[in-house]
Amino acid sequence: MFIEKRNGAGELRALRPASRNLKAYIETYGCQMNVNDSEVVAAIIAREGYEVTHEMRQADLILINTCSVRENAEQRVRGRLEVFRAEKKRRPGLLVGVIGCMAERLKEQLLEEEKSVDLVVGPDAYRELPQLVRNAGTGLKAVNVLLSREETYSDISPVRMDKNGVSSFVSIMRGCNNRCAFCIVPHTRGTERSRSRDTILSEVAALVEAGYKEVTLLGQNVDSYRQQTGEETVSFARLLASVAAVSPDLRVRFSTSHPKDMTDDVLHVMAAHRNICKSIHLPAQSGSSRILELMRRRYTRRWYLQRIEAIRRILPECSISTDLIAGFCTETEADHQDTLSLMRQAQFDYAFMFKYSVRPGTPAARTMEDDVPEAVKARRLQEIIDLQGQLSAESKQRCIGSTDEVLAESISKKSTEELSGRNSRNMVVVFPKGNHAPGDYVRVRITGCTPATLRGIED
Ligand code: SAH
Ligand code: SF4
Ligand code: F3S
Repeated sequence: MFIEKRNGAGELRALRPASRNLKAYIETYGCQMNVNDSEVVAAIIAREGYEVTHEMRQADLILINTCSVRENAEQRVRGRLEVFRAEKKRRPGLLVGVIGCMAERLKEQLLEEEKSVDLVVGPDAYRELPQLVRNAGTGLKAVNVLLSREETYSDISPVRMDKNGVSSFVSIMRGCNNRCAFCIVPHTRGTERSRSRDTILSEVAALVEAGYKEVTLLGQNVDSYRQQTGEETVSFARLLASVAAVSPDLRVRFSTSHPKDMTDDVLHVMAAHRNICKSIHLPAQSGSSRILELMRRRYTRRWYLQRIEAIRRILPECSISTDLIAGFCTETEADHQDTLSLMRQAQFDYAFMFKYSVRPGTPAARTMEDDVPEAVKARRLQEIIDLQGQLSAESKQRCIGSTDEVLAESISKKSTEELSGRNSRNMVVVFPKGNHAPGDYVRVRITGCTPATLRGIED
């Protein structure tokens, strides 16, 4: 679909002179995949002469890369569009584009509802951005929300927008073929497709060459990564092993693992490679098998706990984090207690916790009633948060006295004399900087903790 609309006044704005130094400001919401997509977008619009600025007020083009996963994620974007509208009043030539999942979900409706918006571009249409921006620059409004079965942007070298030059995301796949009842992602991201191993490995090698020390491989469900190269089928376990082999100095992380698909092979590859971080994000969503079935997660509580046992057996020091949803349709007090008891049994080190939010068009929205009252959802969520607070504190307490290899990432926000980094278990560690700088591996003895971080000294 490619729709062009004249803007209100119907007048054509003058084409921008190509020689001028154009600036684009990109604001990103949502998951790590969106962060990486913004880097791909920066590379694509650079060809059009746009350089990324971190100052919204200097921008000729504002792109907001959006998330639709929960209602409040969309509300935040609407709030930002208000701010951009005010900026546009001040500088009428400014262009505003909505990209990402909200663009995909709402399509041209966004142009109707948000008068500040000139272009709407879905996650598989970023190659069209230069053309769409040009159209928008002449007063035409532009939408492209076509989803693709093939697009992986594998030939595009993302413009890294992280500030530290130490740690970077690498997308290994796009889309999702699961149909979890609550989830909008398959609608906004389309069919699952895996990127070729060769392009992943060359991107990782280029990052090593540029001095990066850590990569995080990204996919909605990394365990279903599959690539057929001639006779060989490359599974996620094999891909992970080949990324780890790029350089012994490079740490490798990945996200997200799916409990129904995570194999012991992946765990054995993690055990066999020192440089694969011992940390797994394994979203449980609920501890009740009845709710899991309604959610169409395709595993039971028992299966989930067996996956946890496998991690503990094969990777005893591995940290485990999760996502949990409170108040999904029909959730009873007993179901909620099952979630709390699963959390205790699994001893999660960290969790992202949410209230269920109906997403239009999802299986749950179409077939189930959002029947848990808001106050009950809020109370259950609070109980989950409180319990996780205790579990996270216990997890940090257990680290005290151990010595960890920490990759320093930045100067600590609180003190210029301290560095902040993460250990293999993905926990933040702050320590006196000594002679070290971001990018160094430092052996740190953990001496204490605060609610958010571990503290230590060089060993
Ligand atoms: N691909 C990942 C999750 C992507 S979305 C996976 O399969 O686990 C990130 C998290 O947002 C989900 O794990 C879920 O906990 C939460 N989430 C997704 N849809 C939601 C909804 N409608 N309401 C509340 N939380 C939701
Ligand atoms: Fe959504 Fe489920 Fe796919 Fe994750 S696996 S992105 S929760 S549909
Ligand atoms: Fe949000 Fe889209 Fe990611 S809905 S969580 S930005 S895939």
